[in-house]
Amino acid sequence: MCMRVENHVVLDTAPSGRLVTITVDGQPVEAFEGEAILAALLAKGIIINRYTVKKQEPRGLFCGIGQCTDCAMIVDGKPNVRTCITPVRAGMVIETQNGLGKAGA
Ligand code: FES
Repeated sequence: MCMRVENHVVLDTAPSGRLVTITVDGQPVEAFEGEAILAALLAKGIIINRYTVKKQEPRGLFCGIGQCTDCAMIVDGKPNVRTCITPVRAGMVIETQNGLGKAGA
């Protein structure tokens, strides 16, 4: 099931921004500038954002307000970015995070 977050409890965002392209794990994804990255991913049916350090278990949306870090991904090369509270910008490069998001982690 795909869904789009239209009213976010933290960000003043709505899917009314300019339609832009971001790259998610090497694939182009259309998103609305200013909406939370996680909202754009959910709209495309992408529900796994990271894998845990010890057991490599998948994690995704949990709190949706920037408190739990389950939505952490690598954004423009920076690991541990909470995608539920980070707004989309044109050209962002987003990667699923394994462990701590560093080589060998
Ligand atoms: S879902 Fe909890 S910090 Fe993003």
